[in-house]
Amino acid sequence: MADEGRLERLSAMLRRRGVVLPAFDIYGGVSGLIDYGPVGAAIRRRLTQKWVDHWLSHGDIVEIDSPTITPESVLVASGHVGEFNDLMTECKACGSVFRADHLVEHLHPNADSLNSDEIDKLLDTGIECPSCSETAWTPAQPMNLMFSTTIGAMSTGRTAYMRPETAQGMFMLYPALYRHFRQKLPFGAIQTGKGYRNEISPRQGMIRLREFNMAELEYFIDPENPPIADLNRRTEIVHLVPDPDGPHAGETRMGFGAALSAGIVRHPTVAWFLARTWDFLVEVGINPEKIRFRQHASTEMAHYAEDCWDCEIHGEHGWIECVGIANRTCHDLESHEIHSNAKALRAWRQFAEPRSQTLDRLAPNGAVIGPTFRGDASAVVAALEALTDLPDSLPFELEIADGVSVTIEEGMVERRIETVNVSGEWYTPHVIEPAFGIDRIIWHVLDHAYEEAEKEGEAYTFLRLSEGISSVDCVVLPLFDKEGMPELAREITSAVNSLPHARAELDSSKSIGRRYARADEIGIPWALTVDHTSLEDGSVTIRRRDDQLQVRGFVDEILSRLSNGTIQELF
Ligand code: GLY
Repeated sequence: MADEGRLERLSAMLRRRGVVLPAFDIYGGVSGLIDYGPVGAAIRRRLTQKWVDHWLSHGDIVEIDSPTITPESVLVASGHVGEFNDLMTECKACGSVFRADHLVEHLHPNADSLNSDEIDKLLDTGIECPSCSETAWTPAQPMNLMFSTTIGAMSTGRTAYMRPETAQGMFMLYPALYRHFRQKLPFGAIQTGKGYRNEISPRQGMIRLREFNMAELEYFIDPENPPIADLNRRTEIVHLVPDPDGPHAGETRMGFGAALSAGIVRHPTVAWFLARTWDFLVEVGINPEKIRFRQHASTEMAHYAEDCWDCEIHGEHGWIECVGIANRTCHDLESHEIHSNAKALRAWRQFAEPRSQTLDRLAPNGAVIGPTFRGDASAVVAALEALTDLPDSLPFELEIADGVSVTIEEGMVERRIETVNVSGEWYTPHVIEPAFGIDRIIWHVLDHAYEEAEKEGEAYTFLRLSEGISSVDCVVLPLFDKEGMPELAREITSAVNSLPHARAELDSSKSIGRRYARADEIGIPWALTVDHTSLEDGSVTIRRRDDQLQVRGFVDEILSRLSNGTIQELF
């Protein structure tokens, strides 16, 4: 049974302990903006680093970093300027504005897939305004979610937007990535960083933010030869919710390999990334029983996607999308090629054997084209060579640059049908994208780790965080604040902190019991206590958060076990 007060108690603890707090709180706060405090910022950095390491371990994926301010032209090409909208409605009585699908979500399983007419009909069923309880609504209308800004000032100012996704940075760098990987697909690029969406009605704490932490992979593949992982060796059975309008509608449980073989997951690389998403989430501490993969209905998919799965995690806010895994096809590269100065955002596909190809072309007659077009002659020749739809007759207008055309007349070209051997062809790569919402994942890591118990008659809580996710790995506690114990504790703290991947902090304030409880509350897995014996022989007690068991060990051994991840073996 859901515990009514648990969400409030967890949220209060996160605020009190400096994990996650409302931003700009002393000025009343701004909804949709949060701060990570000293504990939360360390958790965020460690979890994000695990995400980076997770993908870099593939070997054909690299990390990049791009600006968050993005010129308008990029986002026109990507479709975000035209299509990145939510439907909103205004209460006619009090003027409060809401995301229309949120108001009717109890009436439809996928309210964000409804169009404005469908939403208006549902609003007309007597939906009450959450602010004033009246029931009259303006027609739902789209609002673009991007924050706009200006690059430069006055007449030189260019419209720009704060990026709504990091993905466009990877598309902008496609030519550099293609060179980096020596013109060989598949390859991928990851990026972590801020994304911005001007949500109409942010809510649910860390779930719907206006500035949020994203982590995205764009994996470029040859659509004729998509990477296929051997998923049949994997043993986990996962919760799937296939497309409600498709042939497999209805919830099911099966392995990733079986879901691909059954055609539920439509693309082999998407299936592979569903599995790799699962691996990451379980590694950072998400309860596997609370993960499901939900396939989008065609009406729900983002404007760029062909098959899309949400990885949803269950917690105090119900099922929440935390990762989107989309087959973006060639949408972005093709569109940027059309809209930009890039000559070709393409890859070369070498044929196993040269193929004979019949070419129907208009061969330029240099003796006429040169003197007629002079400085433009080479542009005319290039445009003739690039023609795919040949005109039925001459003369015809040939575009040689944006808005510049010339007339091609009799004698300038000769129609030729030729058979040639070709060794390969240029194609536009397809992109499979796993996109992670880091804040939402952190929320669920905290939610799943949070446990409440009673100890010696008092309420006691702790976070059962996974290895390497807590803000520090151990707290070092001098039993007494005297007799050389604080000095030794400080020495041990700095010895841990000089290890490559371990972190420690010192706590010498209040009783030892209070200090253990304080460390447990924010999920620090190990406590090293410096006592009288420590001063004599260099041993300390080491206490395990999860069962409060204590053993004695020598500092050198503890350091090396913290370093190589074998500390559990002391127990
Ligand atoms: N790039 C995925 C997203 O914007 O959600």
